[in-house]
Amino acid sequence: MTGFDEARSAEVVSESFSGTPDPRLREVMTGLIRHLHAFVKDVELTEAEWAAGVDFLTRTGQMGDDTRQEMILLSDVLGVSMLVETINHRARGGSTESTVLGPFHVVESPPRDLGETIARDGRGEPCVVTGRVVATTGAPLPGATVDVWQANAEGFYDVQQPGLQPEGNLRGLFHCDDAGRFWFATIVPCHYPIPADGPVGDLLAATDRHPFRPAHIHFIAAARGFRPVTTHVFAAESPYLDSDAVFGVKDSLIREFAVVDDPTRAAEYRIGNPFRAVDVEIVLEPKADAG
Ligand code: BEZ
Ligand code: FE
Repeated sequence: MTGFDEARSAEVVSESFSGTPDPRLREVMTGLIRHLHAFVKDVELTEAEWAAGVDFLTRTGQMGDDTRQEMILLSDVLGVSMLVETINHRARGGSTESTVLGPFHVVESPPRDLGETIARDGRGEPCVVTGRVVATTGAPLPGATVDVWQANAEGFYDVQQPGLQPEGNLRGLFHCDDAGRFWFATIVPCHYPIPADGPVGDLLAATDRHPFRPAHIHFIAAARGFRPVTTHVFAAESPYLDSDAVFGVKDSLIREFAVVDDPTRAAEYRIGNPFRAVDVEIVLEPKADAG
């Protein structure tokens, strides 16, 4: 097809992809062209704006390495990561809602025993996390794995502060007991800014958006025969629950972190008394029902 002009641009360019052998790639590319061209026409993009956009994407791509994933961060602040997550993990039949993985699940979490603490530097307000992994029928899932990670009390993950935080600080991989239960000690999570010293931070500043995420603990729960769930538990007391920079909050994931005065329990976990505690039930749906 020839005759590229303003009215027919999307049609002409889509046609150039019509011979794509993979039908899904063809569908994705033609859809992308349709929306991209509509966007350019809608805002009547100037040449200077187009060049600024190309420069922005170039700098964003160049900022990536093993511990800094600026392109993912861009997808996060545009709400695209959360939309992809939501579309692909529609909670069916009562399973726990999922949310963004985020860029800091970058290492295998160290295996830990039930009851151990994941706070390796002893800093922060002590907190006990207890929970269960169950099927949508309510049946416990013995041996389910629960991978957890969180930022420290200053809002940094261990991988952001190598040498300052012990390796594997505030990370742990737990195996549930015969009743599908897990329990461990940690610290109360704190709200924190996503990395804002790169192009994505510049974008947030230019658009008067803040970079904060509300306080949360990350979880990935998995069990043989069930769809794994990547999720968070958000602290009900946290600021930014209604304006998460990456749109990850779902009401069903917000929990109270209660104050507990129980010296016996504190001693069992080798933490100070009083402490905080949160209980988390994670519900998985069978793979066969997942569609
Ligand atoms: C996180 O929660 O670790 C996170 C998610 C998205 C962007 C940055 C951080
Ligand atoms: Fe996080």
